[in-house]
Amino acid sequence: MASQVLVAANRGPLSYALSDDGTLSARRGGGGLVSGLSAALAQQPEALWICAALSEADREAVRRGVAEPGVRMLDIDPTVYDDAYNGIANSVLWFTHHHLYDIPREPVFDARFRRQWESYTAYNQAFAEALAEEAADGARVLVQDYHLALVPGALRALRPDLRIAHFTHTPWASYEFMRMLPDDVRGQLVWGMLGADLLGFHAWRWSANFISGATTDDATGVADGYMPSGTPERGVWHRRIVPGGKNGYGEKRFTDVRQFPLGVDADELRALAHRPEVDEKLAQLRAEVGDRKTIVRVDRTELSKNILRGLLAYRELLTVHPEWRGRVVHLASAYPSRQDLAVYRAYTEAVRELAAEINAEFGTADWQPVLVSVKDDFTRSLAAYRLADVALVNPVRDGMNLVAKEIPVVSEAGCALVLSTGAGAYEELQKDVLTVNPFDVTQTAEALHAALSMPADERAERTKRLAAAATALPPSAWFTAQLDALS
Ligand code: G6P
Repeated sequence: MASQVLVAANRGPLSYALSDDGTLSARRGGGGLVSGLSAALAQQPEALWICAALSEADREAVRRGVAEPGVRMLDIDPTVYDDAYNGIANSVLWFTHHHLYDIPREPVFDARFRRQWESYTAYNQAFAEALAEEAADGARVLVQDYHLALVPGALRALRPDLRIAHFTHTPWASYEFMRMLPDDVRGQLVWGMLGADLLGFHAWRWSANFISGATTDDATGVADGYMPSGTPERGVWHRRIVPGGKNGYGEKRFTDVRQFPLGVDADELRALAHRPEVDEKLAQLRAEVGDRKTIVRVDRTELSKNILRGLLAYRELLTVHPEWRGRVVHLASAYPSRQDLAVYRAYTEAVRELAAEINAEFGTADWQPVLVSVKDDFTRSLAAYRLADVALVNPVRDGMNLVAKEIPVVSEAGCALVLSTGAGAYEELQKDVLTVNPFDVTQTAEALHAALSMPADERAERTKRLAAAATALPPSAWFTAQLDALS
């Protein structure tokens, strides 16, 4: 019989809402990963998803012993959680892996950081203990993302019988950026990860960064164990690192480092995109846009997504190629994200302001150049996907970027994809996109011009190939590939 499967992730598949009369109701989360993982987990007997309680309502559910089958929420002390999630995961690790620091001012590793790091360690330990408690003999555990980098090592110490995988959804920092972290912290992160039997990344570049960092870093002491014995798999290579040596776990153990480039489920996405509420939204957008061309982007309001340079490029397009004035509309959806952090709030505001400036500079009585929606509105995004003539995906760095894969699957008339080299998705999609350096605003403006000018048949051909590449490894296959690699 197949062994039990457990998933650990900061964010769970559902959240609770507390109504005025004190009733708790569970709501399934949206998004490709949650639905993909939920569908894949549903096929596993006795599967369990361990996640953090993210809100007061979630914590109340844990206190009352309310739980949905297959999900266990951990009620972590709110201060510890805030330090771990906002302090370390989203302000330090996210910034490191995305190379986002404003170097003259950040990062600063001081006493406050040390307190936050202790919280991060405690939060990871809480996950490891819950997994150790719940896992059957020989169970397979899939740990998700940078929030939980220490879990594999902590869990292996408690339960050496388990098969443990860790998947990183973000990029992995280049060694020069990793080296900014204090030596002991860097060592703990790398050794925490190497507690896993399998380390997964979306793109070759990120696994290569992990391996080159871990094996050249004196703070880790892994160098001796590196085995450059690659096995070609789906056109990419995986490498093995042998933990052991001065920081190791005693016995020699292999950690496979491999790529599992997550894709989209075409049938599911198309079904979602053709629900009546999306049709209605599409009709509204069509009425606003008229017969103009559309440039579509959809992101969280996230610094790494590079929304501001995208808007600057659009402004440059309208300046340098005035023939597009009045003939194009930029539909930008920005979901507010991590608004507990001041730097994210400021970024969200800057996006609104720049969009307003562009509208003031170029807008006319019957043409608004940018329609920006700063809210979590997946229905509008799907309608915009269907309408897209051009998709703009220009992150500075991004683990994968599923928007780049979703738009070609859903777009009705075929859309030209302007994609930055910073996205993990670039590795698979590069042949059929207009490539941009995310920092080069002029190049991005010219790519938008080329995309808008692309003949319809070429656009349709490219979109077909992009959609095929985008659906090569849908979430359930992505999940199963990792389970198989673990078994
Ligand atoms: C990225 C991370 C995910 C995270 C998501 C949303 O995609 O890799 O782990 O869940 O952003 O961020 P949030 O902080 O809202 O969970």
